[in-house]
Amino acid sequence: MIRRIIDESAFLKLKEKMAEGLLPQWVLTDPDIYQLEKEKIFGYTWQFLAHESELPEPGSYLTRWMVDDPVLLVRTKNNEIKAFLNSCTHRGTQLCTADRGNKKSFTCPYHGWSYNLEGELIGIVAGNKVYGTEMHKEDWGLRKIPQVAIYQGMIFGNMDPNAEPLEDYLGEMKWYLDMMLGRSDGGMEVRGLPQRWVAKANWKATAENFTADPYHVQTTHRSTVELGISPEDPLYAGYGHQVVTKNGHGINVITSATGKARVPFQGTPESMWPMYKKNLTPEQVDILSRVTVFVGGVYPNLSFVSPIHGTEGHLHNYLNFRLWRPLGPDIVEVWCWFMIDKAAPEDYKEAAYRGYLGSFGPSGTLEQDDTELWARIVEVSGGLMMRDKELNYNSVSNYLMGFNRVEPDPTFPGPGKAYPTTYLDALARSMHEKWLELITKDLFVKEDMK
Ligand code: FES
Ligand SMILES: [Fe+2]
Repeated sequence: MIRRIIDESAFLKLKEKMAEGLLPQWVLTDPDIYQLEKEKIFGYTWQFLAHESELPEPGSYLTRWMVDDPVLLVRTKNNEIKAFLNSCTHRGTQLCTADRGNKKSFTCPYHGWSYNLEGELIGIVAGNKVYGTEMHKEDWGLRKIPQVAIYQGMIFGNMDPNAEPLEDYLGEMKWYLDMMLGRSDGGMEVRGLPQRWVAKANWKATAENFTADPYHVQTTHRSTVELGISPEDPLYAGYGHQVVTKNGHGINVITSATGKARVPFQGTPESMWPMYKKNLTPEQVDILSRVTVFVGGVYPNLSFVSPIHGTEGHLHNYLNFRLWRPLGPDIVEVWCWFMIDKAAPEDYKEAAYRGYLGSFGPSGTLEQDDTELWARIVEVSGGLMMRDKELNYNSVSNYLMGFNRVEPDPTFPGPGKAYPTTYLDALARSMHEKWLELITKDLFVKEDMK
C-alpha cells in the first residue's frame, strides 16, 4: 500500500518527529492520510452512536453515522438495542432518512421491501410472483453492525468483529465516566435532539482542542474574562490535573488555584449530593466535590465537557458530549448532545439547558470562538511549504508543553497518569501516538514500524 506521497520513509520520519513531541502539520489535511484514517482508525475502533435515553421505548429508532457508514439504531420489542447498516439489501438505498421516531417496521422508498425491528426482511412487493421460490427472505435481512456495546448508557458500535470488548478498550477511563455518568440515580438523560452542524476543520484538531487543550481557553475565549465570567488569572484553566489513560483517552480535572472549585459538586442542587456519595467511591466523591470543569475524551472522536455555568445563586452543571464526524480531511460534522442527571429537579434541568444553548452549540459564544480557529488551521495546512521537506523546519506543530519535565502526581486519587497541571501536551501526545499506532498497523511489515 505505497501511496503518492506517503511511503515508508515518510512514516519513519513522522515517527521520529513525534518522538520529539512534534506533529508535521501536513498530516492534518493530506487526502491519503485521510483514507488511511477511515480504514485503519474508524474501521477498528469503538465509536459513539447514541445515549440509551434517546431510544426510550420499543420501536424507538435513530439514524446515525460511523464516518461514512449509515447506522440504524432500534430498540426492539424485547427492549434490546440493535444496530444495522441503514441500507436496503435490495439495491442499497438508504432505508430510513428520519433522524428519529418510533416504528414497527421500516419500508424502503424505492421498491417497497420492508424490515421489522429485528432487521429481518418481512415484506417484498409482489414477492412470490416476481421471485418465485428462489428467494429466501431470511437471507436478505439488514446487515448488522458487527459489535454494539453499552457503557453507562453510552451506546458504541465497532465495525471490527474481532475488536477488544468496549470495557477493555475504555480501560481506566471507565472510572472517570462512572464519576460523570453514574453519579446520580437513573444516570444521565439526553435533553432535546443532538444539534449538528458542519465546520471547516480537521477531526484530529477538533478532538485535540476539546479533549486535551485547556491552554487555549484563556486566549480563545478571552471574551468570557472580559465579561467577568472567567477569572483574570491567565493560568485559571491550568489548575488541576491532566489524566492520561490508555488508548488515547483522558480527562482534565480543572479545579482552581486553591485546589477547590468555586462551589461544591459543580453547583448541583444540595439534594443530589447524598446520591453521589451513595453511588461513587470516596475517591470519586473527593474529585467531584472540588472540580470546576471536567473536559476530556474517548479516542478517536468523542469529547466531553462538564462545566459550571451561571452566576452566584443560579449555578448549574451539565454534560456536553461532542462527536467529531469527519466528512473529509478538512471538514467535520459536529454532533453535540446536552445531558443532565435524570434525577435533577425539572426547573434546574431547564435552566442548565438554557445556559448550555448560550455557550456551546452553534449559536453559543464559546463555540464560535473555536470554529473560527479550526478553520484557520486547515486553511494553512495544505500548501507545498507545509510538506515535510528538509527546507521547512516550521512545518510542524509543537506538542512540547511539559515534555520530559512534568512528572505524574502519585497523590492524585484516580487511575491513569495524572499530571499536576492541565496546561500540558501529555494527553494530546497520547492521542497522536495512538493515531500513528493505528494508521501504521500492518502497513509496512517491518520490525521497526511495529
Ligand atoms: S432498493 Fe430497497 S426495495 Fe429496492
Ligand atoms: Fe474552546
